Amino acid sequence: MKFPAEPFRIKVVEPLKKTTVEEREKLIKESGYNIFLLPAESIFIDLLTDSGTSAMSDNQWAGLMKGDESYAGSKNYYHFEQTVRSIFGFEHVIPTHQGRVAENLLFSTVLKEGDVVPNNIHFDTTRANVEYHKARAIDCVIDEGLKVDSELPFKGDIDVFKLKKAIQNYGPDRIPMIMITITNNSGGGQPVSLANIREVSAIAHEHGIPLIFDACRFAENCFFIKEREEGYQNKSIAEIAREMFSYGDGCTMSAKKDGLVNIGGFLSLNDGRLAQKITNMLILIEGFPTYGGLAGRDLEAIARGLKEVLNEEYLEFRINQTRNLGEMLMQNNIPIVKPVGGHAIYIDAKGFLPHIPQKEFPGQALVVELYRHAGIRAVEIGSLMFAHRDAETGQMVYPELELVRLAIPRRVYTNAHMQYVSEALSEIYANRKSIYGFEIEYEAEFLRHFTARLKPVNV
Ligand code: F0G
Repeated sequence: MKFPAEPFRIKVVEPLKKTTVEEREKLIKESGYNIFLLPAESIFIDLLTDSGTSAMSDNQWAGLMKGDESYAGSKNYYHFEQTVRSIFGFEHVIPTHQGRVAENLLFSTVLKEGDVVPNNIHFDTTRANVEYHKARAIDCVIDEGLKVDSELPFKGDIDVFKLKKAIQNYGPDRIPMIMITITNNSGGGQPVSLANIREVSAIAHEHGIPLIFDACRFAENCFFIKEREEGYQNKSIAEIAREMFSYGDGCTMSAKKDGLVNIGGFLSLNDGRLAQKITNMLILIEGFPTYGGLAGRDLEAIARGLKEVLNEEYLEFRINQTRNLGEMLMQNNIPIVKPVGGHAIYIDAKGFLPHIPQKEFPGQALVVELYRHAGIRAVEIGSLMFAHRDAETGQMVYPELELVRLAIPRRVYTNAHMQYVSEALSEIYANRKSIYGFEIEYEAEFLRHFTARLKPVNV
């Protein structure tokens, strides 16, 4: 079958509420045209994120009942630790309540003012966390990774020339780590090849720099390697993961993605001294090292989720459900990032709404229209998220890509829901000239897209 059917059946249902266009127009206006400020109950299909939105399996729900809520030494922690070690292969496992805490613990322990962290593309919270510590986050993805139409199989790869240049420019002493985000969320959910990981690892280690994975969607990345990289067709996802992580020194992980849970994360490292320092910080801000801000039952659900996510039938469905939506959109001429990534479709808002200049947030304009027209929530990954004033020149710097992300929660929506999304987008595309831009009324200093309030331009 071209698009495999859901390899599960539905045991519990959550009714969805339908609202009218008039109701949604009122709600989005009251929310300052910011979909983060909408009540989730007013949304029909929520594609805001694939993070923390997975449906857990019967096995995971059963695991919740096995929760051992001891303050110290819970059996669920040992199960969790042993599972993480067996998949990722790093020695020390530090639980956190989500991914950005793992990042924060790592960065606050390691980064100094003026340091530099190269990555393929930093995710927004990762970049903000680096910058918060007065270090510089630099993106070294290959040029094709920034071209929406380039059909390369591994558009998340790091450009080793850019990486070497960064090491030369700043010096290895100012680069406390090199990161690779698998899959590359901010660049279209594109995978990174093992060949590239091997090369980046060699460069990093040649200069004595640790390589750290941002591993949120590691299983999806492994599936793409199995599908696309020569020599891996007969390897299991677990074998590919094991090889991939063997080239690194640690990882930060948001288990809210490929952990198939609603909350949780971890940091895993080989460096024992660093792990000890971070563990001391963990006690200060998250909790004792055997729970790290989570309940025992949460750790159990993560341990079980991490095993399930390696299942190839699941991954085949998962990747193809996303791809299927992408193909329906392409058939209807909607401009999207190609090839389709793992967890989301990224619509090219510049191509969809060429009449709206970047300073008027074409991505956000499309996000607002998707909600208004069809009750679908997507998220802008463009100027609202990333445009900023250059500290030296005072000029506005706009991101290369102006995208709208439709992130697909894992095991939550059926292929009929995907059909609905495709039809809604075709209707909007047919009337796209009537869509207008926005300007900002309020913005915060960091991560402004979460709380900004906007108003329509010229209305
Ligand atoms: N790194 C990447 C690549 C991510 O995509 C995210 C979260 C994080 C780190 C932070 O993890 O949310 O558990 O603190 N991404 C979500 C998203 C929020 O919608 O893409 P977290």
